Amino acid sequence: MSKPIIDSPTSIRSLDTLFIKTYGCQMNEYDSQRMADLMKQAYGLRLVGTPEEADVILMNTCSVREKAEEKVYSQLGRYRKLKDTRPDMIIGVGGCVGQQEGARIQKRAPYVDMVFGPQTYHKLPEMVKKIRRDRVCLSETDMPEIEKFDHLPKQRVDGVSGYVTIMEGCDKFCTFCVVPYTRGPELSRPVERVLEECRGILADGAVEISLLGQNVNGYRGEGPRDVENNCEEWDFTMLLYAVAKLDGLKRLRFITSHPMEMTTELAVAFGEIPQLMPFLHLPVQSGSDAMLKHMHRGHTRDDYFAIIDELRSHCPELALSSDFIIGYPGETDADFEATLDLVRRVKYDSSYCFKYSPRPGTPAAKSADDVPEDVKDARLQTLLELIREQARDALQAKLGQTLDVLVEKPGRSDGDMEGHTADFKIVHFKGKPRQIGQIMPVRITEAFGQSLRGELIVA
Ligand code: SAH
Ligand code: SF4
Ligand code: F3S
Repeated sequence: MSKPIIDSPTSIRSLDTLFIKTYGCQMNEYDSQRMADLMKQAYGLRLVGTPEEADVILMNTCSVREKAEEKVYSQLGRYRKLKDTRPDMIIGVGGCVGQQEGARIQKRAPYVDMVFGPQTYHKLPEMVKKIRRDRVCLSETDMPEIEKFDHLPKQRVDGVSGYVTIMEGCDKFCTFCVVPYTRGPELSRPVERVLEECRGILADGAVEISLLGQNVNGYRGEGPRDVENNCEEWDFTMLLYAVAKLDGLKRLRFITSHPMEMTTELAVAFGEIPQLMPFLHLPVQSGSDAMLKHMHRGHTRDDYFAIIDELRSHCPELALSSDFIIGYPGETDADFEATLDLVRRVKYDSSYCFKYSPRPGTPAAKSADDVPEDVKDARLQTLLELIREQARDALQAKLGQTLDVLVEKPGRSDGDMEGHTADFKIVHFKGKPRQIGQIMPVRITEAFGQSLRGELIVA
């Protein structure tokens, strides 16, 4: 009997399982979770831990740094082998590489069924339906005005901590960065929607909420008229005060904020809101005024120092972290020294440091990537060493102290529990699973490179 060229629709197996491979920032982590919620609601898909078990494989990609596109293609090559043996399988590429590359992905990898961006993943169920019905490849990378959030099912959280996206996109256009092109313009969710999602995850049992966005402090959300401030457009600080009042919330965090959007009110909030934890990721990228100007960051190093001073005057225990880019076009030894000097002066508790890589479509990619690779490597090592030293000092300083730790989950070894201090240090200690969700005093006995160990103080 000859094999039919096109399977009849009845021969299509039902879809049962979903695997999501996530790269990149917290926003992508959040989006992946929402994709899983959506596919569960639409098709009853169950999340599985390996691509081999999956009927649908989604890649949620990041294009912020080096060779992002190539990494996606080589990963896709591995998924292709799975699809060769199971042609009914659906492969989708979402996230920031999906947005940037669009249908080019299917030209290079024709076995990819769908390509979508961070603003179109609410269409996943519809895309899957079309693929199964019409056997077509789809690419959905428009940036619709409508709120994708309106089309997502209610978020469910089963842990102690929950994440809520409050704004999307970026209008800052730093010269090196793809995010404004992949995530689109800054759009803030209305206040009531944010509060509703927060209430929901608190009702599920979470006690900590992290507010997410590329520039959370650029938040400008439509809100109810506020009596004191007499305005309908709420800024980030107003939102913080409102979220902090929600029943059941013990800890409030946010990521990421931009120096240009820092306000005195936000610094004051760190001193005033007990639930707002004393940790702030405030990326500066470079300590050189010339580099900051070329990067289009919109502030000088002195502006940054002034912001840090103001924050610390309201919240002396504030722990800081930052991102740095090494080897931006034209960076001299003196520019790099200025970065080291800034790091020494600010004293961070942790930081991330990246070698500059030109990203397609960004203004900086038009300049020659002229800092030699070996110079970039040497500067990276020097800065990493300084960052590690500061991180070690910050952890050592906790020895002997008794700190409030939110018990979050079992640790890796038997009888161990894991949690975070208010200023976001990881702590391991002997404890009980029933303590999960409680904030408990732990006396710090050991400090390692990236975490602490302590003993629970039971009254
Ligand atoms: N919205 C955040 C950061 C988003 S991207 C902010 O403004 O801080 C995360 C980090 O990736 C950036 O802070 C930057 O340090 C790094 N990064 C972005 N583009 C890069 C590039 N082309 N090369 C190297 N690092 C880059
Ligand atoms: Fe990228 Fe700059 Fe926007 Fe951050 S603020 S996402 S670094 S363009
Ligand atoms: Fe990457 Fe997109 Fe986030 S480029 S860092 S996944 S916004």
